[in-house]
Amino acid sequence: MSESLATVSYLGATILFILCLGGLSNQETARRGNLYGVIGMTIAVLATVLGPHVGSAGYAWLIGAMVVGASIGLYAARTVQMTQMPELVALMHSMVGLAAMLVGFANYIDPVASAHMSGAEKAIHEVEIYVGILIGAVTFSGSVIAFGKLSGKISGNPLLLPARHWINLAGLLVVIYFGREFLRAGSVGEGMTPLIVMTVIALLFGIHMVMAIGGADMPVVVSMLNSYSGWAAAATGFMLSNDLLIVTGALVGSSGAILSYIMCAAMNRHFISVIAGGFGTGGGTPAAAGAAQPAGEVVAISAPDTAELLREAKNVIIVPGYGMAVAQAQHTVYEITRLLREKGVNVRFGIHPVAGRMPGHMNVLLAEAKVPYDIVQEMDELNDDFPQTDVAMVIGANDIVNPGAQDDPTSPIAGMPVLEVWKAKTSIVMKRSMASGYAGVDNPLFYKENNRMLFGDAKKMLDEVLVALKA
Ligand code: TAP
Repeated sequence: MSESLATVSYLGATILFILCLGGLSNQETARRGNLYGVIGMTIAVLATVLGPHVGSAGYAWLIGAMVVGASIGLYAARTVQMTQMPELVALMHSMVGLAAMLVGFANYIDPVASAHMSGAEKAIHEVEIYVGILIGAVTFSGSVIAFGKLSGKISGNPLLLPARHWINLAGLLVVIYFGREFLRAGSVGEGMTPLIVMTVIALLFGIHMVMAIGGADMPVVVSMLNSYSGWAAAATGFMLSNDLLIVTGALVGSSGAILSYIMCAAMNRHFISVIAGGFGTGGGTPAAAGAAQPAGEVVAISAPDTAELLREAKNVIIVPGYGMAVAQAQHTVYEITRLLREKGVNVRFGIHPVAGRMPGHMNVLLAEAKVPYDIVQEMDELNDDFPQTDVAMVIGANDIVNPGAQDDPTSPIAGMPVLEVWKAKTSIVMKRSMASGYAGVDNPLFYKENNRMLFGDAKKMLDEVLVALKA
């Protein structure tokens, strides 16, 4: 393939990636967006493999690597549980970081890569290598720790070293100092020491940064690492003089940053304080999930009584959360919705931006169960409608319906916008026990006079509600 055909293919792939991101911003166009992404990536890979920079001698290696990579990817995609998605994503980000690091070292050692360079051009190339390895190393180790925390292999509590901000600052200064040494080095042998020292510091920094973050801030960290992985890819693009990689990396980097910002706003957190770490510590010890003690009396309700309330209601809002995903109750939820709608009940779904364990988690499950998009609404769209709602049905959600976020300034989730289900005539919370949710805080909603608790596995209880509704 000629240089110009490769460039045109890259341009086509870039446009498809932009269309992909545009499509993914809306559930109705998400499938099409995904398809654009797949086609764009296929074009990008083909144009690179068949392009002018790969000789036929490299094909065996490339095909071998692609078969191994694709097999692992296919296996992971088929076996991963929906609830494990964030940890898989974290692991994938670590791969991008690792790739940026390895490309950086390979590029530095490769005598051909910089043979024709001198003066400013060589200096710029070396800065690209230094910065690329730096971002790659932080992304790699940070993502590995995020994977460990999300999968429960490492404690989810924030690790707060004394003077941690000073440690980070000292690390930054050392990295700048060795950057100067690296640029001054006369040979690859001389430059290798500062490069390795910087890499070790960057790896430690990535570990330290994510270890210091815990509790409900973890989703923001995953999207922030998503952004870092984009910048790492862009840095790789600079090192390899690959325009497509630069543009794609920048797209991922900026969309990850925008997503982090949106999630921070949804949880009323400042981006800087998320990065600085220590969520849920309140100056003392961090909150541990499930640690909160129930503080009051609750009124339980049975499945047939729940069905009765639903049957008599005119307006119903369903608020799904992580428990619906665990119980895989979305199909039964849809059956109930269909039945109620046939009876003329106005049923809508209220989706909190951080419900579940990943952005869009609830939307994916409801779409899978074929719930019509027009009755699935964002928190902001229907939060004012709860006072006119007869029944608010909370299915396996907890933190996102916690009134303490509004009323209790000492709560670890104080200020996080929540769905105001307690303003409905009756709220019904479906969960197995009085255990707390992800943020580890008790929920005053459970003790409200107009609240009922339907205890049990969400799928099992909803099946019983469905049977009672059909009776
Ligand atoms: P949570 O506050 O975690 O509450 C989920 C509730 O579901 C739990 O209290 C649990 O109570 C119940 N549950 C679990 N399995 C169940 C089952 N089989 N049947 C019925 N109930 C079940 O979830 P949420 O309200 O969706 O809030 C999300 C939380 O996760 C927020 O704090 C958010 O910041 C955090 N987070 C979000 C994300 C993203 S991006 N969405 C990522 C990571 C963390 P029982 O044990 O009593 O059943």
